[in-house]
Amino acid sequence: MSASPSVSVPGAAPRVGVWLIGARGSVATTVVAGCAALTAGLHTPTGMLTETPLFAGSGLPPLTSLVFGGHDTTDCPLPKRAEALAAGGVLPHGLPAAVGAELAAADREIRPGGPLPGETRTPDELVAAFTADLQDFVRRRGLARAVVVHVASTEPAPTGTAPPPSSLYAAAALRAGCPYVNFTPSTGLDHPALAAPAQSAGVPHAGRDGKTGQTLLRSVLGPMFAQRALTVRAWSGTNLLGGGDGAALADPAAAAAKNAGKERVVTDTLGTAPEGRTHIDDVPALGDWKTAWDHIAFDGFLGTRMVLQTTWQGCDSALAAPLVLDLARLLARAHEAGLTGPLPELAFYFKDPAGEAPSALGEQYAALAAFARRLRAGARETTAPGTAHGTPEDR
Ligand SMILES: NC(=O)c1ccc[n+]([C@@H]2O[C@H](COP(=O)([O-])OP(=O)(O)OC[C@H]3O[C@@H](n4cnc5c(N)ncnc54)[C@H](O)[C@@H]3O)[C@@H](O)[C@H]2O)c1
Repeated sequence: MSASPSVSVPGAAPRVGVWLIGARGSVATTVVAGCAALTAGLHTPTGMLTETPLFAGSGLPPLTSLVFGGHDTTDCPLPKRAEALAAGGVLPHGLPAAVGAELAAADREIRPGGPLPGETRTPDELVAAFTADLQDFVRRRGLARAVVVHVASTEPAPTGTAPPPSSLYAAAALRAGCPYVNFTPSTGLDHPALAAPAQSAGVPHAGRDGKTGQTLLRSVLGPMFAQRALTVRAWSGTNLLGGGDGAALADPAAAAAKNAGKERVVTDTLGTAPEGRTHIDDVPALGDWKTAWDHIAFDGFLGTRMVLQTTWQGCDSALAAPLVLDLARLLARAHEAGLTGPLPELAFYFKDPAGEAPSALGEQYAALAAFARRLRAGARETTAPGTAHGTPEDR
């Protein structure tokens, strides 16, 4: 089914596309349902920094201007997916029905991804097909731009030189001139074959792997131990989760990609690699609800041995969705402002940030606040009397 042609409303904010790779997954479904719930005034934007005074006047696209679409390899309709999430307590009871029209509209904009079972298309043909879908979305819906956000199942790190599926989608984003966010540990834009196209595409990008729970806590606690001159001897962690993410991470190769990011935050913030590993266990009965336990053994004065244990119990998609909405708006605004290349200013959101970025959450927040100020200054220029189109800010 094709969507109705867009009608531009005079004076309305330009419409901005959010193209989700993995558009029928838990995170993507929560993003679409959540945005509709916020714009209808049914819920407050808890967890979204872009709805706080930090970003007031920064020229971000309003939530009402966002148009959703994407790729997925499964065909379960979005309204049905939302019902399943509500049954699991991830979405509030009644929300799928309340935002049924918006879920159905986004579902009409989801195109088959790839590689599909029995795939016969070559990687080049897949990139061409993905690019054409994106260009068609932007043209048909009359969008000012579309941000591609990768939220598909975590894939194992590639072993050969062939780009994995996440990198084919990233290549399509570059080819279509779209800003790109990798919210997963998958390779995406970080494949060597994409280094040159990424430089020449002239689009902003950010990633990799959203920092929503255990790693968020680690990026606060690591600097605390370092700044208090307490010696961390061992830092061990276990994650129990179910849902699609839990099932994907039951593959040791996929889990290795995820755990590498979690362990890197500890090493980077402490400045040394303590003993201890991070594990992920798939527990299907838990669904989207994750329990993350950290056990930190450290030395105090005179070598006195102590332990800090933390238990984080979170709903993964409810933690991730507000960040995805933030990132889509920030990348859209960065693109509008003429920014290109990696945005280390957005390290606050990621386990493994693009470009040179601090690893402590406090410093990352300061960088984000500076970014907000820069966007605000640019937005003022754009709207200043006598300024026809504004000036792209310098990086
Ligand atoms: N929720 C969090 O807190 C969080 C934090 C950081 C990163 N992530 C990452 O976000 C991703 C999505 O998580 P989720 O819970 O929504 O998982 P999910 O299993 O519910 O959804 C993943 C979706 O990706 C689709 N998919 C798989 N291969 C594809 C392909 N080749 N092309 C297009 N679509 C494809 C699946 O069909 C599915 O609909 C995972 O990689 C996860 O690690 C989540």
